Amino acid sequence: MYLIPKKLDEEIAIVPKIPDNEKGLYAFQQENVFLLGNSNMQYVLQMDEHRGKISLLHWGDPVSTLNPLPYDWRVSGGDEYSSIYSDFPIYGDGDDREPALKLSSLTTGITSFDFKFKDSQVFDGKIGELPSGLPSTYTENDDEAKTLLLKLHDEDADLELRLYYTVFREFNVIARHTEIVNNGKEVISIERIASCSIDLPPSPHEEGYNFLQLQGAWAREAQEVWNKIDYGKYVVGDTEGSQVHRANPFVAITDGIVTEDTGTVRGFSLIYSGGFQSVLQVNQMGLLRINIGMHPDIFKWKLEPGEFFTSPESVAAYSSNGLGQMSRDYHRLYRTRLARGQWRDRLRPILLNTWEPFLFTFTHDSLVDLAKSAQGTGVELFVLDDGWFGARDSINAGLGDWYPNLKKLPKGLKGLAEDINSLGLDFGLWVEPESVNPDSDLYRAHPEWAVEVPGKAGVQMRNQLLLDLTNEEVQNHLISIMTELFSSANIVYVKWDHNRFISNPFSRTLPPDRQSEFCHRYMLGLYNIVRTLTSRFPQILFEGCAGGGGRFDPGMLAYMPQSWASDNTDVEERIKIQWGFSYVYPLSMLGAHISAVPNHQVERVTDWASRAAISHFGTFGYELNMLEFSEEDKKQAMVDSKVHLAIRHLVHHGDWYRLRSPYKSNWPGWMCVSPKGSDEAIVLTYQRLRHSRETTPSYLLKGLDKDKKYVVLEMPHARKKFTFGGDELMKRGLLTSFSHDFECHLFYICEVGKFTETNS
Ligand code: DGJ
Repeated sequence: MYLIPKKLDEEIAIVPKIPDNEKGLYAFQQENVFLLGNSNMQYVLQMDEHRGKISLLHWGDPVSTLNPLPYDWRVSGGDEYSSIYSDFPIYGDGDDREPALKLSSLTTGITSFDFKFKDSQVFDGKIGELPSGLPSTYTENDDEAKTLLLKLHDEDADLELRLYYTVFREFNVIARHTEIVNNGKEVISIERIASCSIDLPPSPHEEGYNFLQLQGAWAREAQEVWNKIDYGKYVVGDTEGSQVHRANPFVAITDGIVTEDTGTVRGFSLIYSGGFQSVLQVNQMGLLRINIGMHPDIFKWKLEPGEFFTSPESVAAYSSNGLGQMSRDYHRLYRTRLARGQWRDRLRPILLNTWEPFLFTFTHDSLVDLAKSAQGTGVELFVLDDGWFGARDSINAGLGDWYPNLKKLPKGLKGLAEDINSLGLDFGLWVEPESVNPDSDLYRAHPEWAVEVPGKAGVQMRNQLLLDLTNEEVQNHLISIMTELFSSANIVYVKWDHNRFISNPFSRTLPPDRQSEFCHRYMLGLYNIVRTLTSRFPQILFEGCAGGGGRFDPGMLAYMPQSWASDNTDVEERIKIQWGFSYVYPLSMLGAHISAVPNHQVERVTDWASRAAISHFGTFGYELNMLEFSEEDKKQAMVDSKVHLAIRHLVHHGDWYRLRSPYKSNWPGWMCVSPKGSDEAIVLTYQRLRHSRETTPSYLLKGLDKDKKYVVLEMPHARKKFTFGGDELMKRGLLTSFSHDFECHLFYICEVGKFTETNS
């Protein structure tokens, strides 16, 4: 029986029967249709009972009727079924576009599988951590979300394909992942498996579809790149395997004219720290397909009878109010229902990091002196970066030997932490557990633990090799050595660095027919290690890092609530990097520190106030040699720390608004507004270059209450008090002027009546 009739005049609209009291969150089946949604978003799947295939009927604003697609939208190349809007296209199924799943039977050689709908199930809440230990979003209460599980079956090989869809009451997103279960007798090779695939009709808007990706490199992370989507295939991805410097696991598709505040956007983010790929493809009929998942170039998996495989989770966001709303949804979801642990909701300490001031050259005494110099500057946490262990005097040796270098630190870490604590500062430590230098005791004892192809000279990036995290023995070694280390002193913060990507993938413990599983198994091993350690040390604040922002991804965020965004701290560079990351990631995650000038990466000289202003929009800190501070510098740091203490609740927990883009304007800006009801805000304005006789346009603020009156103060010195109506700030704008290149200004805004001299 057809449930999508052939001719328009036979077609019957579906009227979603959602009870009024469930409009805020629902997932149910109505005849052959599955409806999921909340009050802002609806996702509707249709099951073709004749063929048992699932197609996407609608993903957008909630609607009261759903008419089937016209017949001619569904036909292609003479096969009336081949171009339906598949929700999980499978290779060999008569659809020549990018498949979401490609299998081949190692027993029969067959590569075509016919998965048909078998069963569905709806349950409250969602699966919090996926099998194999893959990180994912979670609920704290079953009432927050509903999950639809669709089961499809291939009869010949007896394989079950499970598609999970979760909708949330509070976030306009769908979390999806895929599972495949081998109940049959054949050995199956999974050649690719997407976490999410969506087919969209041609855009109804003249401007069509465009897409945003976050491209990057070391010290130039998360660069915003836009392209029009036309006929053909666009591939965004990263095959580095264990870092995502080159491309962040995210794309957004805009439909028609889209601004920060208006228009339709669909975002796709993958909760994974390894190689990923997103393909955007428009076929000869103008139909758009988007998928996201593990990168098939570095993934293949052998599935024996009785085994199952789970993909990472993807989070697809829908906004009909522009890019800003999409970002705010991602921020709230990832901050509160992806990040875990005691530090999730806590405001982050102001830290001083030793890397840029000292690199590898320090002693116990010089560290204590540096800590002393930080007294009275507002620093709360002293972080000892690279160089404290083994023979680590440069990047050439020592990685793997996680015991203190007693020549540098005669009192050990315990004694150092005590001395730092006695100065009123907390103590934190840098580690890079995943790597080993060939010049290390660990490598000499266990060369077989390193990732190398025996007998072949491999790539030694930064003079280091990776450890084989696919090997359980290595995982257990790292868990036990890090447990010992983290227990050896009063360590309240750990920076987990990772300075190279995967090359020459090979494990001595994997059989030849499973070597192509190496990259994914590496990630599973890593997640096992970080999950064990972060739950064993819940009091420790973990910060991810991978040569700057190479692990600024949702997978690591699940365990480490903050991440170092970039080794590039120059104002002009940082505004673009932080702007890029802000499309997806909350500012409570974003490590931003003031460092020295000329800048270490680009040698630009910018003023202190501007470097401080940009660093306030993240987890604030210093990478400065405070021993060289003048009295004036010290006072300046104290003032900046005070400012950060006063505003960090807005930055870490507030709502984020991008005002003007550093990619389009000479005067970019952004702001954070109090989550409690638009009574407070903090605004950044910036001039890239000064031009002669040019007037700065005003900044139209967002998220305030048009009926409220606000005090506006220019920080850090709380000078120039003005009173503005919310309507003036949002409609006429905040006026500001600049005097030189690369100049930031910071404005604190507070509702009149709530403003006291103490919050200034
Ligand atoms: C790369 C990081 O991004 C830096 O902050 C620093 O920790 C170095 N590694 C240390 O080797």
